[in-house]
Amino acid sequence: MRVLIIGGTRFLGREITIRLAERGDEVTVVNRGRTQWELPDGVERVIADIDEQGSLCAAVGDRAFDAAVHMIAMSGPRAAEVIDAIHDRIGHYVQCGSTGVFMPLRYVPADEDHPVDPPPNEWGGFNGKAASDQAARERCGEHSLPLTILRPTAIIGPGDVPLDYWGGRDPRLFQRMLDGEPAIIPECGEGLIQFGDVRDLADAFVLALDQPEKAGEYNISSRYAITHNYYAELLADAMGVELCVEQMPAEEIISRYEDTGMVSRRGMRFFARHMCFTIDRARRELGYDPRHTAEDAIAASVRWLFDQGVIERGRTD
Ligand SMILES: NC(=O)c1ccc[n+]([C@@H]2O[C@H](COP(=O)([O-])OP(=O)(O)OC[C@H]3O[C@@H](n4cnc5c(N)ncnc54)[C@H](OP(=O)(O)O)[C@@H]3O)[C@@H](O)[C@H]2O)c1
Repeated sequence: MRVLIIGGTRFLGREITIRLAERGDEVTVVNRGRTQWELPDGVERVIADIDEQGSLCAAVGDRAFDAAVHMIAMSGPRAAEVIDAIHDRIGHYVQCGSTGVFMPLRYVPADEDHPVDPPPNEWGGFNGKAASDQAARERCGEHSLPLTILRPTAIIGPGDVPLDYWGGRDPRLFQRMLDGEPAIIPECGEGLIQFGDVRDLADAFVLALDQPEKAGEYNISSRYAITHNYYAELLADAMGVELCVEQMPAEEIISRYEDTGMVSRRGMRFFARHMCFTIDRARRELGYDPRHTAEDAIAASVRWLFDQGVIERGRTD
């Protein structure tokens, strides 16, 4: 299959590129060439900045593809421009969404039919993703182009710092745990977080690419959500340290720790809500079958943090 990946050199996009290249697909990645990563053999790189009008169209030239995967659809106008630029060169458009568009949840586990309300002002971030989804529906409808939107929950696994318990991806919070300082968890620690392992999520993209006839909208993740307290326990286990945890109201964490730069209001308020989704539709329709549990994905992430020197035992700085 000939696949165009917009993004494709970091974390989830990189994992998708690897999967496709390994099985012999013809892959072209489009990006600005800033992210340092040696592409797998046979993968073509095309340089373009999708924020610059006309850049993608010029860079892709007269190439044609069976499908395109857009990893960085962060605003409605940008998603629309990308589709307008390539719709006549592709047979299937796959966009990476986010289950964040459904938050705050009214019921759990939430499914693809959960309402998407304008997010509360203090969160901001996901209205760009919701607008990208909407733009994709409209533009693909106009161009009669099959559209698949895959929405990961919080992505974890080798390749990036995991979501921390204050809703960011700050390595210092993991280092503090390793140093024996308490993990300060929002509210009573019974909030739910659902991680999708980057390796499973990449499989979901490949399954979607292989089945354009199953075009649709799918939430993708691991099988179950875990509590924040259990997340702290799993982190401590994986680090080989004694669990030391403290619960505190989210707003108190913000006011006490905002000055440290390790907590953002938006991240904290997002993390403090339940994140819990069913992946039944992806399992039923696409045959998605995640291999990694939250437990082993968290262990793999912590190993990656050690291996990369992101956290270190006995660090003094
Ligand atoms: N992280 C999570 O927990 C989470 C959860 C749910 C959904 N998501 C979704 O996952 C997606 C992120 O995917 P990812 O893991 O592949 O990581 P990413 O860090 O967003 O990947 C960025 C990729 O896009 C390229 N890029 C960035 N800006 C560009 C531009 N203006 N023009 C062209 N290329 C550009 C980068 O390469 P260059 O720097 O070389 O340009 C790189 O290849 C997003 O859609 C996000 O909403 C993430």
